[in-house]
Amino acid sequence: MENREDVHILAIESSCDETAASVVKNGRQVLSNIISSQIDLHTLYGGVVPEIASRKHIEKINQVIEEALKEAGVTLEDITAIAVTYGPGLVGALLVGVSAAKAIAFATGKPLVGVHHIEGHISANYIENKQLEPPFACLVVSGGHTHLVIVKDYGEYEILGCTRDDAAGEAFDKVARAIGLGYPGGPKIDKLSKEGNPDAVKFPRAKVDGSDYDFSFSGLKSAVLNYLNSCEMKGIAVNRADVAASFQEAVVDVLVEHSLHAVKAYGFDKFAIAGGVASNSSLRAAFETACSSQKIAFFHPSPVFCTDNAAMIGVAGYYEYIKGTRSGYDLNAIPNLRLGER
Ligand code: KG4
Ligand code: ZN
Repeated sequence: MENREDVHILAIESSCDETAASVVKNGRQVLSNIISSQIDLHTLYGGVVPEIASRKHIEKINQVIEEALKEAGVTLEDITAIAVTYGPGLVGALLVGVSAAKAIAFATGKPLVGVHHIEGHISANYIENKQLEPPFACLVVSGGHTHLVIVKDYGEYEILGCTRDDAAGEAFDKVARAIGLGYPGGPKIDKLSKEGNPDAVKFPRAKVDGSDYDFSFSGLKSAVLNYLNSCEMKGIAVNRADVAASFQEAVVDVLVEHSLHAVKAYGFDKFAIAGGVASNSSLRAAFETACSSQKIAFFHPSPVFCTDNAAMIGVAGYYEYIKGTRSGYDLNAIPNLRLGER
């Protein structure tokens, strides 16, 4: 028997190249998490092609939503509210999820809750860490974002720093392409790095003038490209595993240093990571070591909840829903939505 008080959120995510739907019960229990990835399609082009992404979302969205309901063992009648990512992301891709969510909300008369994609990534930490509650500091590292955030309360954020140029995941993807690993580069660099020496090449650890918490990765990317070019010109064979490991170490060093600096400066004893790059094995290991030596509790989602998924949107949608957040049928896709804005 279902408890009448139970809150079931049907969540939809389509901001980039994953068409995803999920049913989340009472905020932290994931009843289903269906993800239809377009990665194989975009691999042919070396990156996400927005127009292809939108078209694929249209083909898949209804099927993914039906599967999410079926796997959760619920019908639309059991759903309390519909949550959907409405930004940031690719506008055409976002529009598919937003339109589907609006149609379901309108047809069923259930409330609609627009969710910020980054708020979703952060909230992925609540799924497996039942004891985690705000306030805490969180590093969000994905293909499109690198944000150091204070989670003051559910749905309340203060951004301490972000990237001035490339996102961390973007740097992984670009460097992977340069050494011939293909798209998406993060997991491939992660794997190849295990065979390489992280001290083989000294790549720069960028500091941003005037900010302790902002990041910059374009200089590092250029340094890798310059290194590859100079090897080619001198006729020196490149050890790809060493380049991958040395690049990864440079990214990890900067992410750990900035994050720990913020955690200590603000006196937090809890720190979490989120986003696709948060599944990087070397980054996780470095944070485990740094946090345990400083008596900071370290949280991270499982890899499936790090990369884009709808369960994280269901969790964030739940906390927004119980706070009273409601979106109208005029909800629009906002490609450059800022965290904390509605
Ligand atoms: O969060 P996400 O799925 O999408 C965005 O919101 O951007 O993140 C995708 C990014 C890609 O750049 C991908 O290369 C990176 O996360 N990524 C990784 C790993 N797995 C995914 N980067 C480093 N190591 C990994 N294991
Ligand atoms: Zn994402």
